[in-house]
Amino acid sequence: MNGAQLNAAVALSAALIRSRAGDRRPAIAVLLGSGWGALAHSVQDAVTIPYADLPAFPRPGVEGHAGWLLLGRIGTRTVVVLSGRQHTYETGDPAAMKGALHTLAALGVRVLLQTNAAGSLDPQMRPGEMMLVADHLNLVQRSPLLHEQGAQRFVDLRDAYDPALRAAAQRVALERGITLHEGVYAWMLGPQFETPAEIRMLCQLGAHAVGMSTVPETIVARQQGMRVLALSLFTNMGCGLEDVALSHAHTLAAAQAAALHAIPLLEAVIAGLEV
Ligand code: HPA
Repeated sequence: MNGAQLNAAVALSAALIRSRAGDRRPAIAVLLGSGWGALAHSVQDAVTIPYADLPAFPRPGVEGHAGWLLLGRIGTRTVVVLSGRQHTYETGDPAAMKGALHTLAALGVRVLLQTNAAGSLDPQMRPGEMMLVADHLNLVQRSPLLHEQGAQRFVDLRDAYDPALRAAAQRVALERGITLHEGVYAWMLGPQFETPAEIRMLCQLGAHAVGMSTVPETIVARQQGMRVLALSLFTNMGCGLEDVALSHAHTLAAAQAAALHAIPLLEAVIAGLEV
């Protein structure tokens, strides 16, 4: 899609969502990563729209990623939940979620909460625990803003992961006695997992978590003026740090097991958001 086609698809998608939204006006969006799909059950009074109805949205193809937009309430907050993202490793396109994110911006979304599954690079951060992304390393060295023109493509990524939102999430975690680490997320293209040598490199580069998503969406969301919070759920230690074979089934099973405490945390963070 070129820029004009994207804008047209975004306008159509936003109009269709508005037409089905009733009086729901979401200021908060949640983008669910691998294994986080159960959060969709927390959405009350939901209107569900398949991505297939929305021309600006992708067609996710990975098991565990549904491809539904839900509009409803979590607690007292009106939210839009995107269940399913298209990863860059599926098509090579780092802008796969751009149309979806522009549509959210057009709907008035101000805050993007992202979730993902990740491998831990830090022995203090264990599988089953969570980490707030404080910063990222774009090791794929691709951008969803490639081919754009004009000054708006030169996005400032300082404090890309909103410090006030992180502090709010830390307060919620502390109240609930949930361990919430904070660190640097390294984006690797995948879909293969890393080699032990790559994991050692990532450790030396100062990363705490490694995964295959989140970074391109953060870049687009920041360009659209949204505040971003990203929550990684550790499903495993990085390859070679422990004697465990990695697979997508393992990622999903570990994420689903940890979702028991991860989802209440996310619900409480949403409840406390001031937007
Ligand atoms: N590497 C990359 N992505 C991941 C991992 C990993 O070890 N675990 C879950 N997602």
